[in-house]
Amino acid sequence: MSNIEPTLELTPEQIAFFHQNGYLAIEAITTLEEVEIMRDAYDRIFRERAGREEGNQFDLAGTDEEGKEAALPQILNPAKYAPELANTLAEANAVVAVQQLLGAEATASVAHAIFKPARSGAATPWHQDEAYWNPELEYTSLSIWMPLQEATVENGCMQFIPGSHKLEVVPHQSINNDPRIHGLEVQDGAVDLSAAVACPLPPGGATFHLSRTLHYTAPNRSDVPRRALIMGGSVPPRQRETPRRFPWKDEKQTARQQRADEVKKS
Ligand code: NI
Repeated sequence: MSNIEPTLELTPEQIAFFHQNGYLAIEAITTLEEVEIMRDAYDRIFRERAGREEGNQFDLAGTDEEGKEAALPQILNPAKYAPELANTLAEANAVVAVQQLLGAEATASVAHAIFKPARSGAATPWHQDEAYWNPELEYTSLSIWMPLQEATVENGCMQFIPGSHKLEVVPHQSINNDPRIHGLEVQDGAVDLSAAVACPLPPGGATFHLSRTLHYTAPNRSDVPRRALIMGGSVPPRQRETPRRFPWKDEKQTARQQRADEVKKS
């Protein structure tokens, strides 16, 4: 837990907007000074491909073979490799906001990092985060997406479908229907995506979205990398009374999982 004094308080209008639409954008969750420190650490761990052996660093949008350039590199638990990313003002503010949005028992911490290289063709396709999770559990969870430079439509800022948090988990599949790829996408025609709202942000701004809110980021068509740090906020999940299945999870055969299994065996 951070000892840093939080500086954020969401307004009643922001809280109401979040519950009505399933997402919220704010201009600042931290200072530009802190963004610079975090950006240096972030770039370092992506340069070093930290966590690759353990299966914590992998390609979200490609088949992730050794020696192949990643389309959309992702690092899980990045604060393990870059302590500068945790115990920050951003995290202290995230805890306050998450408690305002989900209740006093909620917690928040750094979850993962997604790096979109300059001039990279890979979008993060439309999905609900809950489609990645355990189908046996009932979640009250949100994600906080924080860019470490300006985020624009051109470089891949977040886009949401307002109100989609009220849907069940809709049918997903592996990206390009290829089970070797870690990332998921909603199946064609499963949802109406015409109402998408883009949320450009300044560096150190943030968006919040619930676990079933449909979201997307476009390919990075700009000349600078797009760095996003994602924090998770939740109250402990409960066991679901009605079971459900996520068949798109059962068929996964990713190189990342093979590496993680090798490390566990050794
Ligand atoms: Ni997501």
